[in-house]
Amino acid sequence: MSEFTNPNLEVLIPTEEITKRISELGAEIARDYAGRNPLLIAVLKGACLFLSDLMRAADIPLNVEFIAISSYGAEMRTSGEVRILKDLDVAIEGRHILVVEDIVDTGLTLSYLLANLKSRGAESVKLAALLDKFERREKEVPIDYLGFKIPDKFVVGYGLDFAERYRNLPFIAVLKNPEEAQLGLPMKTSDIQHFETGH
Ligand code: IMP
Repeated sequence: MSEFTNPNLEVLIPTEEITKRISELGAEIARDYAGRNPLLIAVLKGACLFLSDLMRAADIPLNVEFIAISSYGAEMRTSGEVRILKDLDVAIEGRHILVVEDIVDTGLTLSYLLANLKSRGAESVKLAALLDKFERREKEVPIDYLGFKIPDKFVVGYGLDFAERYRNLPFIAVLKNPEEAQLGLPMKTSDIQHFETGH
């Protein structure tokens, strides 16, 4: 069964549009950061695909780091408190930082992360986000390099997941029926059967 043509997915942003927009963003970044050797910090895991295309579109010397964060839980999310699961491997004092994130939703995660990175003495901290779900914003987060504004819908693909699935889609899609998508991996044969006949 093909994952990419799964009937539970409705394509929102096709691959060609993503590729085109990211090459524009890469060119902008290359121009803005020329001679400044920026450090791109990608937020795991969702930003991986965005990072890999963005860095190849930015023809300047740059470095890459990864950080993994998670929200504490329902009550703590409102305060914007997040937990760092995997921290940077290098000091960032005096560096020009470009955070690379998949999506800005409420903005709570990013506003925490950007403040945290600034507090470590970075020379500058900017944000590149592939998607902006602007209608849900609770905390203002300036997005310096934005791929696309999207409506308030749950999206998957191009790094974004639903229960760890769909990150490998080469496009951004809306899940038509999230309940059907909840089948986690590894799937049992009986689950796959159920999924295929579920429409
Ligand atoms: P925020 O703190 O509400 O802005 O949360 C941002 C994080 O929530 C993103 O990095 C994603 O991991 C996750 N997220 C928000 N909206 C979506 C979505 O539509 N699909 C998949 N993940 C999402």
